Amino acid sequence: DKGGWSSFMAKEISEEPEAVRNTVLGRVHEGAVTLTDLEPIAERLQEVDRVIVIACGTAAYAGMLGKYAIEQWARVPVEVELAHEFRYRDPVLNDRTLVVSISQSGETMDTLMAVKYAREQGAQVLSICNTQGATIPRESDAVIYTHAGPEVAVASTKAFLAQGVALYLLGLHLATLRGTLTAEQIAAQVAELEGLPEKLQQTIEDAAGIAELAKWMADTRSVLFLGRHVGYPIALEGALKLKELAYIHAEGFAAGELKHGPIALIEPGQIVFVIVPSPRDARSLHPKVVSNIQEIRARGARVIAIAEEGDAAVLPFADEVLRIPLATPLFEPLLAVAPLHMFGMELAAAKGLDVDQPRNLAKSVTVE
Ligand code: M6R
Repeated sequence: DKGGWSSFMAKEISEEPEAVRNTVLGRVHEGAVTLTDLEPIAERLQEVDRVIVIACGTAAYAGMLGKYAIEQWARVPVEVELAHEFRYRDPVLNDRTLVVSISQSGETMDTLMAVKYAREQGAQVLSICNTQGATIPRESDAVIYTHAGPEVAVASTKAFLAQGVALYLLGLHLATLRGTLTAEQIAAQVAELEGLPEKLQQTIEDAAGIAELAKWMADTRSVLFLGRHVGYPIALEGALKLKELAYIHAEGFAAGELKHGPIALIEPGQIVFVIVPSPRDARSLHPKVVSNIQEIRARGARVIAIAEEGDAAVLPFADEVLRIPLATPLFEPLLAVAPLHMFGMELAAAKGLDVDQPRNLAKSVTVE
């Protein structure tokens, strides 16, 4: 039931704040993280010296976000790999490796086979899954269920948010175990997690004008997405959504790669979405991305910036600015992604395409 929405996808984007809230619910208490979901692997978790995230598509981009958070907070190395690549490259695994699989459906064959393979090699497998009792969680040592609710549209939206949040909870749990963050630092991140649904709601409301933007772009043949640090997986996610929903050639790039090749693609009229890091970020990534914007603008690109409230530096160079509320750097991508989900949907709608059921795709890919 679409509940009055024009598509399941529209409904599911509107449920993104709730997906986040429900995934956090019961897993944080008074500024601390309690993941009882991890009890089956509690003992071995103490010994973990490496994390490998395996997933496909959008779930893999959520995994990339998790890498930044887990490494920063828990100081344990994290690799992210597409499940179908992981399985066939003879990866080095042992009983101190924690393999984290991510799957909305819990039935993706590539991910399932990678899970089985990892366990055979002696790794412990934790799965992040949105579907109770699905095959992947049944084949795993432990499960963190995301509570996004059923996702019907082929394009994954609210599940992505819930997967990101589940990985952040895992990062904070590992940081607690390993003593890499103080109780105050953990409480500050928990507060960010708890504040996220409201900010996400705000972001979605503020991005309502994106439907107009999509209309004037309906004839566009190519769109580029640039992001840096945690903005990079969001650029990839924005591009994937345009491919699958609007059948438009779209590429996501790490903004730092621009000069290493992609800038050659920029010609007058090329549309480029740029996810702009906060000017408050201690790593000073903001001026670097603003200078990327200047470079592409100078070559005639039309720039749509996704930037935090009050960031005036982007204004002279962007054709459009979509705003996200203030958040700490690791949490910004979980806000910035919502307008991109909306854009993919609106562009598909502007082209008169089936938003929920794009051509050639299945909701759950149960063949290799
Ligand atoms: O069910 P899963 O999370 O395992 O699915 C993984 C991918 O097939 C899925 O995310 C796909 O990329 C989506 N259609 C993206 O919107």
